[in-house]
Amino acid sequence: MKYSQFIKATAIASALFATFATNANEVLKVGSEATFPPFEFIGADGVPTGFDIELITALAQKAGYEVEINNMGFDSLVPALITSQSDVAIAGMTITEERAKKVAFTTPYYKSTLSILINKNDKDTIKSKDDLKGKKLCAQIGTTGAMTAEELSPGNVATYNGAPEAFMELKIGSCSAIVNDRPVNLYFLAKETSDQILELNDRIGDDSYGIAVNKNNTELLDKLNTDRNPVD
Ligand code: ARG
Repeated sequence: MKYSQFIKATAIASALFATFATNANEVLKVGSEATFPPFEFIGADGVPTGFDIELITALAQKAGYEVEINNMGFDSLVPALITSQSDVAIAGMTITEERAKKVAFTTPYYKSTLSILINKNDKDTIKSKDDLKGKKLCAQIGTTGAMTAEELSPGNVATYNGAPEAFMELKIGSCSAIVNDRPVNLYFLAKETSDQILELNDRIGDDSYGIAVNKNNTELLDKLNTDRNPVD
């Protein structure tokens, strides 16, 4: 190929590339942890689905992005934002002071609280959260449920990668209670066929869920906050 032909070919290629580049939507890399129904779970087709996934997909579409959902450990979500492996984390994530030092949160999109599940067999000895001291508790790793469990029964908390594992451990009796977000506890209870598991009356904390982004990404934060009425 002569030099002039080469220049021409390159020019055509870059014009084509520019066309494709402007037509294609930018990809928004979304981190989530899909063992937390109804907010995120693996659907029948093997793909993450749920309230959060639908919310972020709708917000992203409006802002002109395509979403790529990456399922990861709950305790990896914030580090993935800090290292820019993810653009966004949505995972029923409670806005906490500690997390807000590391990442930026949108305005709250859901109000939640924690609750406690126990085995029915223990209902006479465990009547409230104050009866949990010294008892073995189960929770999902890195969650506010795990932190609260640690306050209720210091040094006696077993943490699991997924919320269903913690639930299973309670069922087989390897822990006396699980501390977890109430909507997820209720979801498990609704799916549970045995009447083995009970929810205590305690509600712990006023949690607000937010969508997290890298602290420097104020442009994306603004886009995610636009057109959405925060819960108060
Ligand atoms: N709201 C709790 C927290 O922020 C639990 C969230 C767990 N989410 C999940 N997708 N596993 O710590």
